[in-house]
Amino acid sequence: MDLRTFIDDVTDIVRSTNDEHELTTRIAKRMSALLTNGYRLPPELTRPSSSRHVTYPLYIAPDNSWSMASVVWDVGQRTNVHSHDTWGVVGIYAGVEHEFRYLKPPESAEPTPLTPAGEAQWSPGQVTVCCTTDDDVHAVEAIGSEPTIGIHVYGGDIGTIKRRSYDPDTGEAHWFVSGWDTPET
Ligand SMILES: [Fe+2]
Repeated sequence: MDLRTFIDDVTDIVRSTNDEHELTTRIAKRMSALLTNGYRLPPELTRPSSSRHVTYPLYIAPDNSWSMASVVWDVGQRTNVHSHDTWGVVGIYAGVEHEFRYLKPPESAEPTPLTPAGEAQWSPGQVTVCCTTDDDVHAVEAIGSEPTIGIHVYGGDIGTIKRRSYDPDTGEAHWFVSGWDTPET
């Protein structure tokens, strides 16, 4: 499968339903096909930064209904604990991702320490539904000996969505917008 076919398929799926569980299940199958059929990212979208993980745009739907990114962590880099406030599907392209999940705190509650909800390690070719709007809080660390690269699909334009980072020890949240990184050519 090439990128164009994947984009067309996801566009059709996103238009066909608002059910996030159905959407993500169907997109995960397409992501699996993209990875196992040997799709190769442009090399400039696989380069880590020494300062922090980077998010390169692969596609942003003209109506902003969904977006697709190449996310690259250098060895040892780790995100803070964050939400996405949308649905998302992640396919591992290279390296190994260690994911730490947490229960999403209720919207109105006073901050209390976050409740861990399991850990997982993801290897190349594996696909995970990282997020539905009600279950979307995690941190991610690149482990292993090479950078971790994921192909990510999210509802909306993930570079512009207001979402939260958490202190897991206190539950205190801060709003942030991740933005997009520009590949060096
Ligand atoms: Fe994330």
